Amino acid sequence: MTDQSALKSVYPASAEFVAKAHVDAAGYEARYAASVKDPVAFWGEEAQRIDWIKPFTRVKDTSFAPGNISIKWFEDGLLNVSANCIDRHMLTRANQTAIIWEPDDPKEPAQHITYAQLLENTCRVANVLKAHGVTKGDRVVLYMPMIPEAAYAMLACTRIGAIHSVVFGGFSPDALANRVNDCEAKLVITADWAPRGGKKTGLKDNTDKAMLHCSDKVKVLVTKRTGDQTSWVEGRDFDLNAEMAAARPYCPYVEVGAEDPMFILYTSGSTGKPKGVVHTTGGYLVFASLTHQVTFDYHDGDVFWCTADVGWVTGHSYIVYGPLANGATTVMFEGVPTWPDAGRFWEVCAKHKVNQFYTAPTAIRSLMGLGAEWVEKHDLSSLKLLGSVGEPINPEAWSWYNTHVGKGKCPIVDTFWQTETGGHIITPIPGAIPQKPGSATKPFFGIRPEVLDAATGQVQTGTEAEGVLCLSDSWPGQMRTLWGDHQRFEEAYFSQYKGYYFTGDGCRRDADGYYWITGRVDDVINVSGHRMGTAEVESALVAHDAVAEAAVVGYPHDIKGQGIYAYVTLMKGVEPSDDLRKKLEAWVRHEIGPIAKPDLIQWAPGLPKTRSGKIMRRILRKIAENDFGSLGDTSTLADPAVVDDLIANRMNRG
Ligand code: WT7
Repeated sequence: MTDQSALKSVYPASAEFVAKAHVDAAGYEARYAASVKDPVAFWGEEAQRIDWIKPFTRVKDTSFAPGNISIKWFEDGLLNVSANCIDRHMLTRANQTAIIWEPDDPKEPAQHITYAQLLENTCRVANVLKAHGVTKGDRVVLYMPMIPEAAYAMLACTRIGAIHSVVFGGFSPDALANRVNDCEAKLVITADWAPRGGKKTGLKDNTDKAMLHCSDKVKVLVTKRTGDQTSWVEGRDFDLNAEMAAARPYCPYVEVGAEDPMFILYTSGSTGKPKGVVHTTGGYLVFASLTHQVTFDYHDGDVFWCTADVGWVTGHSYIVYGPLANGATTVMFEGVPTWPDAGRFWEVCAKHKVNQFYTAPTAIRSLMGLGAEWVEKHDLSSLKLLGSVGEPINPEAWSWYNTHVGKGKCPIVDTFWQTETGGHIITPIPGAIPQKPGSATKPFFGIRPEVLDAATGQVQTGTEAEGVLCLSDSWPGQMRTLWGDHQRFEEAYFSQYKGYYFTGDGCRRDADGYYWITGRVDDVINVSGHRMGTAEVESALVAHDAVAEAAVVGYPHDIKGQGIYAYVTLMKGVEPSDDLRKKLEAWVRHEIGPIAKPDLIQWAPGLPKTRSGKIMRRILRKIAENDFGSLGDTSTLADPAVVDDLIANRMNRG
């Protein structure tokens, strides 16, 4: 078993890293202090990192007051996102690679798309959109594989001021239709097929099914990815590649107001239909660009790889907008970490000499279970920094990532943020803030976190504090509203704790002022009157050598209120047994305390995950509650069959 005490320490970046870093400790302290003391001066200056067609005169006009939630940044400024991400680099970087595209199948050649090619392709798509009557403020839904055309289409929308809403290619036709209808999209851009992990999904086929539930005015532009056959509806479907080829290669960009909506991204709430998170133009771009440069310590000439899908905010901010606004080279990967083999991530890092690598703990854990030999095979000497996002990274995964991928020399930035925040809000700044494995560490510039008592809403004033994470002031990357439902926006984020933006996450602040995210408060369980973070129990479980992955939920318990139900995936080659179950119970008891001992442990060959890797706890809670008749929509799962196994072998039959 691994010695966890080694991970209790603090990890500063090497002197060599600090010497080259954009921001050192003193710089962080000074800039952070300035950013919260005088946000107008701070952001007024930081906003100069992007090009404005007409400069703003007002920096900040924001209110978290009940009944008047209003967020405006750089309000009277005019700019264009596509001009910032492409045109302004043309004098200095026309022939630099903007996007390295790595296809699903490593036998297919990668593509290196220069800024000049990016400009031309974006312009061609913009001209196609215009020809189809798309104008400023219109909504365009993208339902695409991870191919360069997805980036062209996003940038083409911003070029003409259209609002894009990217729907992850793993979503079902119903989910697609709901989003098209909710934002009243004029047009959908899709592809024939989406290859992923050696299999292919019929995106066009799914779109056809979705369109049955949408207005017949909605047009469909189809790009060719595999060239395999699809059906075709004359008059509704149009060939994007043919129209691009026929379109003019240049399209002027339009002036867009800083507060004009830039994109909508649908995200699930704890209840009801998905929420259409709205981001606007100026503040979002400033924040995405600044966080990309500072958090990842991105330097000119570096190759940056974020493994997310553009269907998620991570892909928006850190594959497309942040990197391209900074004139970076960004990697776009169509495949999965485990195909054709478990070394794919590292093979791609070596092949494209990646300098910053950004992925999710769930990916790390699944690769960890398959053995370090897959990493050791590849030359990872180009790596300078590693990133993590999506959930707290458990010490075991941190340690593996640090040792085998980072070779002990790459800072790991554990970036805490949300679809709603546009970019990182709590994160190590690598040259400035020593890491503590499992902590997202300190607030980014301009972010004012407060820990509130969950029940009373009292602000915890001591350095050491525990409660819910709220933010007391706005930042430029903050979402502005929910599409078509400002009232729901206020209810979802500002009604729980008046005067604050509520993240929905629990958190602890330690004696050094470091923040430790303890997970969504809806995942917090209450055992015998004690609050227990499911993430904490999971972290303990995966710290055991036999465990590859674990998910913990609460279930109704006669005596304790809630009991602890653990789904455990064992390492390859480890056999489940009652003896092992007892060992794991004792292990957790030992790691956290008797109160954390799982009441039920179910051996799970797999966990129900969305195709982006998020564990669907809603489903796990239902099964743990022995209430699996109403699991809701499971169509977005990466592998729906996992659920059947979990139901069949459920532990709580009371
Ligand atoms: C939720 C937001 C924003 C990128 C991906 C997810 C959890 C995210 C961390 C982290 C602990 C994290 C939170 C948050 N989360 N990053 N570094 N440490 N928790 O976006 O789908 O909007 O989910 O993910 O619970 O609220 P999202």
